[in-house]
Amino acid sequence: MQGEKAQREHWGTRFGFLMAAAGSAVGLGNIWRFPYLTGENGGSAFIIIYLICILVVGLSIMVAEFTVGRRTSLAAVGAYKSQNRNWTFAGVLGVLSAFFIMGFYPVVGGWSLAYMLKSVTGLLAAPEAIGDVFGAFISAPIEPLVWTLLYMLLNVVIVARGVSAGIEKASSVLMPTLFVLLVIIIFKGLSLAGATAGLTYLFKPDWSQVSGATVLAALGQSFFTLSLGMGCMITYGSYLKKDENIPSNAVTVVSLDTLVAIMAGLAMFPAMFAFGLEPDAGPGLVFVVVPAIFAHMGAIGPLMSIIFFAALTIAALTSSMSLLEVVVAYLIDERNMDRKPATWLTAGVMTVLCTLSSLSMGALSGVTLFGVGFFDLFDILTDKIFLGIGGMLLAIFVGWFMKKEDLRNEITNDGTLTFGLFEVWYNIIKYVIPVAIFIVAVMGIIDIPQRGLMLFGLAIIAVLMAFSKKL
Ligand code: PHE
Repeated sequence: MQGEKAQREHWGTRFGFLMAAAGSAVGLGNIWRFPYLTGENGGSAFIIIYLICILVVGLSIMVAEFTVGRRTSLAAVGAYKSQNRNWTFAGVLGVLSAFFIMGFYPVVGGWSLAYMLKSVTGLLAAPEAIGDVFGAFISAPIEPLVWTLLYMLLNVVIVARGVSAGIEKASSVLMPTLFVLLVIIIFKGLSLAGATAGLTYLFKPDWSQVSGATVLAALGQSFFTLSLGMGCMITYGSYLKKDENIPSNAVTVVSLDTLVAIMAGLAMFPAMFAFGLEPDAGPGLVFVVVPAIFAHMGAIGPLMSIIFFAALTIAALTSSMSLLEVVVAYLIDERNMDRKPATWLTAGVMTVLCTLSSLSMGALSGVTLFGVGFFDLFDILTDKIFLGIGGMLLAIFVGWFMKKEDLRNEITNDGTLTFGLFEVWYNIIKYVIPVAIFIVAVMGIIDIPQRGLMLFGLAIIAVLMAFSKKL
């Protein structure tokens, strides 16, 4: 690029932006993690605590990320760097988080893609073997990798086309589709005899199951599910037009994310209980218990199963696109790269990480770092350490290192909008969130059984911090 920077890309329409941002937020976190966390942590008691976390912390940070992004018109690294070079590391930490999340997320995306096909090629014919089939599939050396590669290719094709022509256009079609697919599954599930037991499991508050750990789970989940703490919403905010209403867009994205999480619970639990299946945790819930549900449905089972895994794939895809975009936007903004090569290069590196993750389920299961395989390493490092600390850093940066008047001007579009809660928001960002996340992060990190991994994660952050000015 010669001298002049090309004009920054923008979202074409508000709807397109909302679908892209909601697409980033709605993902594996909603469809398999939220329902199972809810079931395990006291049903609606958990939902209530989770909603408080979302409303107080999640929403405030989302407003802050959009504001920083639009104010600077730069993706995560540049956004921090342009304000204060001592803070560049916080942006770089986000880029690193994007690499690590993309080191395992597309593996699950690949499984989901594979299960669309498996839905009609005999998986459901032998319900008792579904668990073994899953175990054998993910631990095989080649097959899951091929699906991961295919999944990654979908991401590349979309992101390489650009913000509006790629991400926005794809999300505008995929997100409404996801919604319709989920509604179909929910209706089918609720129509089954005995479905209400699932509703009871999901919604009946059981306060006896609520403990400190529940609050930790709720806060951690609110970060992951809203794509916060790693620069993703800063990047998406940087493509926002100046006349967009940041708080109201943030409310919409958060509401859509919460709605889909609850819909995912409704799609699974009633049917699960109707067929007397045990709710299970983690990937098993989606890839083992859910196919078992469809195996019980008879002739319509395979179709329902395809619909479900199509929905899961879509949810994952619009999230991984945003993760890829975080790095691509950094390379465009800070390394002057063109979008296409930046996308291929980034996806190439991510694929290498995914290969390690995928093989860690089988061939490389003996290779561990800090006691965990690559898949878990990338997962724990980001979900348990980087995102929370990233969110805390963002709040400290916005609350203590940016000018209050600048923030007010940006959020109110130079005074043309009213944002009555500005003072409340500002104080939450400046005081409440740094303290709350510090407490939660310390508790959470203490909770991690892999102490070495925790120190490793913190060491990475410390090194980045020390060399911030050189980044
Ligand atoms: N929000 C996504 C989900 O719920 C995951 C994600 C995290 C995406 C961080 C982007 C950034 O699955």
